Amino acid sequence: MFEMFPDFWTPVLPAREVGEKPVPVELAGERLVLFRNQSGDISALSDRCPHRSAALSLGRVTEEGCLECPYHGWRFDGGGNCTHVPFNDAKAVNLSRLSAAGFPARILAGFVWVFTGKGEPPELQIPDSLRFPEAKYCIHQEIWNTHWSRVIEANLDFVHLPFVHRNSFGNIAQASLESGDILDFKIEHTEERIEVFTPYPNVPPSFALEWRQPNQVVVKFDDMGLPVRREHFFAIPINERQTRCAMILQMAEGMDAQAQEFAAQEFIKPLVEDRVVIESQSGEIPAMSEECHVTTDKPTLLFRRWYHRRFSRQTALV
Ligand SMILES: [Fe+2]
Repeated sequence: MFEMFPDFWTPVLPAREVGEKPVPVELAGERLVLFRNQSGDISALSDRCPHRSAALSLGRVTEEGCLECPYHGWRFDGGGNCTHVPFNDAKAVNLSRLSAAGFPARILAGFVWVFTGKGEPPELQIPDSLRFPEAKYCIHQEIWNTHWSRVIEANLDFVHLPFVHRNSFGNIAQASLESGDILDFKIEHTEERIEVFTPYPNVPPSFALEWRQPNQVVVKFDDMGLPVRREHFFAIPINERQTRCAMILQMAEGMDAQAQEFAAQEFIKPLVEDRVVIESQSGEIPAMSEECHVTTDKPTLLFRRWYHRRFSRQTALV
């Protein structure tokens, strides 16, 4: 399962979307169902009853917090264990062999996170800036018709700002473009993390983009070495052709609702500009030889190196 995105923790849906009813969601080509279980937490199961493969998301959540199949009423707890098969003697049917596939799930920063692997998951690593109570965040999501790898790449790319974003924040790069500056990148990276600092001489170096494996980019604004603002962006694979672009914007202390709405709109505007260009690219990032590369592609080529290694597509040439 999850062949296009195995063994990762990833946000899947805002937790507020999971109420009393089960919710179907596609993640990396797999159909899942999310529901509130017996302890009030959210569970993630394969959206397929092990009995006759009906979509469990068409069923209901019982008072005990079990998910009931819409077809024959089989019930499953938050771990996917079958707890009830109507019209059958529980001892005779051996419930322990009738489980639905379940996946580790957590709620963090207003999102439901799921682990796309088997067995005991590793610890879910998130930046400290995502560890505040949910009320501190503004959440936005939209579905793009593209592969998640293209979306991450765009979020690590400073060079497109004066073109794609010339009518919004990309104007910070305009002076450099007009002066004919040759850009010089400061990059810090490990296998699992890439931080790119703004290459534009007239922009404070405290503006940086940080990729964290696999599908997160943090937009960072610091002042005098202290974090002022963090925007968390996730490219969540729905399938090979679609990506859920999710943003978690940390609201500043004391912001009223109107200011929050304004900040959220400012936050969303560049996405609209990116979307049309990124959807025009064709699918997953291709083999190195299929596109041309130049010096200013270094940050995105570092991501490609990780991507090709992790998904065994090819050995990258960076
Ligand atoms: Fe962009």
